[in-house]
Amino acid sequence: MEAWNNYFGNTTPTELLETYGSPLYVYNEEILRRHCNELKTFCPYENFVIDYSMKANFNPSILKIAREEGLEVDAMSVGEMKIAEMAGYTPDEIFFVCNNVGAEEMQYAIDRGIRISVDSLSQLELFGKLSPNSKIAIRVNPGVGAGHHEKVVTAGKATKFGITMDSLDEIYAICEKYNLTIAGINQHIGSLFLEGDKYLSSIESLFTFCKNFKDLDFIDFGGGFGIPYQKGVARLDLKDLGQKMNDAFEKFCAEYGRKIQFRVEPGRYVAAESSCILGTVHAVKNNYEKTYVGTDVGFNVLVRPIMYDSFHEIELYKDGKLVEETNGNVATIVGNICESGDILGKDRPFPVAEEGDIVCVRDAGAYGHVMSSNYNGRLRPAEVMITTNGEAKIIRKRDTYEQLMENYVM
Ligand code: LLP
Repeated sequence: MEAWNNYFGNTTPTELLETYGSPLYVYNEEILRRHCNELKTFCPYENFVIDYSMKANFNPSILKIAREEGLEVDAMSVGEMKIAEMAGYTPDEIFFVCNNVGAEEMQYAIDRGIRISVDSLSQLELFGKLSPNSKIAIRVNPGVGAGHHEKVVTAGKATKFGITMDSLDEIYAICEKYNLTIAGINQHIGSLFLEGDKYLSSIESLFTFCKNFKDLDFIDFGGGFGIPYQKGVARLDLKDLGQKMNDAFEKFCAEYGRKIQFRVEPGRYVAAESSCILGTVHAVKNNYEKTYVGTDVGFNVLVRPIMYDSFHEIELYKDGKLVEETNGNVATIVGNICESGDILGKDRPFPVAEEGDIVCVRDAGAYGHVMSSNYNGRLRPAEVMITTNGEAKIIRKRDTYEQLMENYVM
């Protein structure tokens, strides 16, 4: 969580909710651009590309800004590839890092000329059948993973991802059968690290494997760059990591015999801190000694707390003003979904809240709106961007009840 400098521009939380409805995702363009730029410049290696991992937030207005700031994208599905193109990305700026896709989905990327990475021997075989005599990237599982929750550790012995490093003979055999060239190698060990050491050591171990392939155009180390969700937690030292990565890249290239391209795929770091969710307090009650602040920010709006026990700072606005003093008060802030796990923040020091107050859930820009749902028949919220000139601009309308019902066939 970073300190805000006039986050809401020329408007206020009260005005925003009155205009666009509650709950509401509110983005800040200046913060988004700053994070893109930080990534674009953190590693001095010359041929270094940042793929924004659009799974974190694929609103086309966000993508358009990421593109203007010089980031390419990695996509996970046909839907993401289509939205990337809708936002202005050209096929050569998209990297399709897929998992367990069918022939039709893979063919879509082949037809568009989009670079593909496959993450199993069977998917390499499928690619060979669909597109013999061509270049392909493979995703490796280095045997160790990392992440803020077991559900987001995406490498290691207990995960479904990647080709294991002992599969060299099988990889060579499939490549020979279909005349494929391994032009790229990628990995993603997991999501949310705040210290660079594990990431750096995963780079080193991937390099050892990469030396088995002589025709590489690029190596991609995945995302995982974390942000401090909780006040007081130290930020990732990006500059230091970038310098160390640069040294490792130079050393590898000297041994490899030529310079190649290196890539990373951050999602959260780009988008998380550029958005908050505004919501409304609808009920306050004491159930058996616990105070519950009941809001309209249910887990259909933000699933991270119930799904990963994730922490998001929650603030309270009263009569339009941020209340910082909690005066020893403690509360559990909950949503309006019919499940007891629908908890945004448990036993938090929190100001005394009343009906009509506004809650602000911080750092919701990554894996927020994209993971929202219509559970309990609720409408997914609108998304609004505070532009660099301080104005509020709608970037996604709130769902309508017509949309909620339109696909049902009676
Ligand atoms: N590349 C690949 C292949 C990935 O699987 C992911 C995330 C990324 C890049 C981007 O990772 P990031 O830089 O955002 O950590 N919904 C979870 C996170 C799931 C991440 C899945 N893969 C959350 O809300 O924490």
